[in-house]
Order: sequence, then structure tokens, then C-alpha cells
Amino acid sequence: VLRTRLTDRFGLDHPVISAPMGVAAGGVLAGAVSRAGGLGLIGVGYADEDWLREQQRLAGDTPVGVGFITFRLAGDPRLLDVAIDSAPAAICLSFANPAPYVARIRDAGIPLLCQVQTLRDARHVLDLGVDVIVAQGTEAGGHGERRTTMTLVPEIADLIAGRSPETLLCAAGGISDGRGLAAAIALGADGVLVGTRLWASQEAIVHPAEHRAVVAATGDDTIRSRVIDIVKGFDIWPARFDIRTLRSATTDRWHGRESELRAVADEEVARFADAMARGDAEQAGATVGEAIGLIHDIAPAREILRRLTVEAEAVLRAGATLAR
Ligand SMILES: Cc1cc2nc3c(=O)[nH]c(=O)nc-3n(C[C@H](O)[C@H](O)[C@H](O)COP(=O)(O)O)c2cc1C
Repeated sequence: VLRTRLTDRFGLDHPVISAPMGVAAGGVLAGAVSRAGGLGLIGVGYADEDWLREQQRLAGDTPVGVGFITFRLAGDPRLLDVAIDSAPAAICLSFANPAPYVARIRDAGIPLLCQVQTLRDARHVLDLGVDVIVAQGTEAGGHGERRTTMTLVPEIADLIAGRSPETLLCAAGGISDGRGLAAAIALGADGVLVGTRLWASQEAIVHPAEHRAVVAATGDDTIRSRVIDIVKGFDIWPARFDIRTLRSATTDRWHGRESELRAVADEEVARFADAMARGDAEQAGATVGEAIGLIHDIAPAREILRRLTVEAEAVLRAGATLAR
């Protein structure tokens, strides 16, 4: 057993939160993670109220949390009401300023997680009174920025120690096995938020062909780009964020030529949607991070959590023998 402030505060068996991966992390995955002793989050992404309600139903009786792309809430404020009304185990806000939503979440007594990519944003969410900061490094799958997990996590750990020691810290980005979990703890985190490794789980909503492509790939095979947002028809992201995915014929063709791509976006959006529906990973890639080089199977979520903790314990024990 790996006991940390995160497991104590949330009553968990593993210091592991599943990432709110838009579409891939539905109720089945979130429920499986929570039942296995982690904290499962449903990732609302671009989905609507009906989708969220259905995923909450699929999660079953075990409490799960809900994660939002913060700037999407402005266009669909009802989504937050649906989440709050269900008394979730936590609400996670990522990307853009969470300030307009904090009071409602706190007043409802729901733990608030905020995912940040810079020290500046960490300072801001500490001022807002967040319960858990998730420090997301650039290795991460999906949207993010440029700082690496290796330096961002300890820098935010120092900030928290100086300003608000009761706030918890989780590391995200590139963590997919026990070495990563042990490293995150060594860097000062209370736990980890895991995306890509749980994307490669049996419970994730992912096309089997995408799963096969990712298991065969290495950590060299991902790219941060704006291309995928454009061809998905979601060219709405603030300029500071881009998205890490598996490289594909689409990113090979358009990365660095985004203005040309925007000129033919309609055609490319249709082509990309078709490739995704067919599970054509060569054309469409997959939204994953550098951790894919460490993933060799599509395992049940429970087994992934078990391995993370058992391996991390072994790494931490072996490390302790070095210090004499
Ligand atoms: C398929 C996928 C979809 C994601 N969608 C979201 C999202 O909708 N909202 C969000 O806050 N983070 C999203 N993320 C980022 C995760 O929250 C998290 O930061 C990341 O997965 C951690 O790094 P890792 O993938 O290396 O584990 C997504 C990540 C992946 C892999």
C-alpha cells in the first residue's frame, strides 16, 4: 500500500486519479478506476449534458468525479449544474481561468482540482483556494503547454509548501508505470493523474485499431501541434495550448502549414471525421502522450492501478537502500 496525503484525503487505495480525457474517459472507465481504489474522473471534453448524464449512469454507484475543459463551460453553463447536482467525488477544471466557477463548486462542498501548466497559473489557482493542483508537463497526451513534468512538479511543490501547505499536488504528463509514480512522489507530489496509460485500458472509449497502433508505437512517435484541433473542427483553443497526439499522415502533411490547412478546413474536417470513424490510425492518429513508449498492452483499469502501485513500492524500497 502506498499511503500519501491524497489517499488519506480522498479515502483511496492508490494515489492515482484518472485523467478527464474527453470522450475516452467515460463512466465505465471512471467507475472502474474508482472501484479499483483510485479516483475516476469522467472527461466531458466537447460533449453535452445528455452525454454527461449517461456516463454518470454508466459509472454505477461508486463515486466518480467530473472533469471539464474550463472555457467550454462559458458556452454551456448547464454542464456544471449537472455535475454539481450529482454530488461528484471531485470536479476538475483545466485550461483557462477557473475563477468564475470556483465559488459554486466550493459552496457545494465538492473538492476542486485544477490542472495547470505553469507556475503562474499554479499561483492563481492557489489564490482561488483550490484543493488539489495537478501540474501537467508537456509529455502529456492531449492539450497542454511546454513545461516538463520533471521541473514543473517540484517548482509547484515548493510554491505550495511556502504558501498553502494543506493544498495537495498531483503530477501529470508521462506517468504510466511505477517508476513514474515513484518519481512523482520523489518530486514532491502527493499522487498522479494518469491519462495515456488509462486510455490504453479495456474500459476506455477508444477504437481497437487506435489501441493497436499505440501499443506498436514508441515515445518518439508523438507530436504537439495545432493541426488536430483544426481538422477536428475545434479550432477554438487559446493560442498558448496545442495538442499532443500520435503522429499521423495528417500531422505529417499539415504541421507547420496551418494557414494553408485553415483555407481548406471544411474538406479536411470531413476527411478526418471519416478516418476517425473507420479507426484509421494512419490518417487520424490518436490523442496520446509520450508515455506510449512504455505501454505494451491494453489492460483492465484495475490491473493498471495495481501495477502502478506495486512497481512504485518496489522502486521506492530499492531507492531507500541506496541512502546509507
Ligand atoms: C485522449 C486524451 C484526452 C484528453 N482530454 C482532456 C480533456 O478533455 N480535459 C482535460 O482536462 N485534459 C484532457 N487530457 C489531458 C489529461 O487531463 C492529462 O493531463 C494527461 O493525460 C496526462 O498525461 P499522460 O497522458 O501522459 O498521462 C486528455 C488526455 C488524453 C490522453
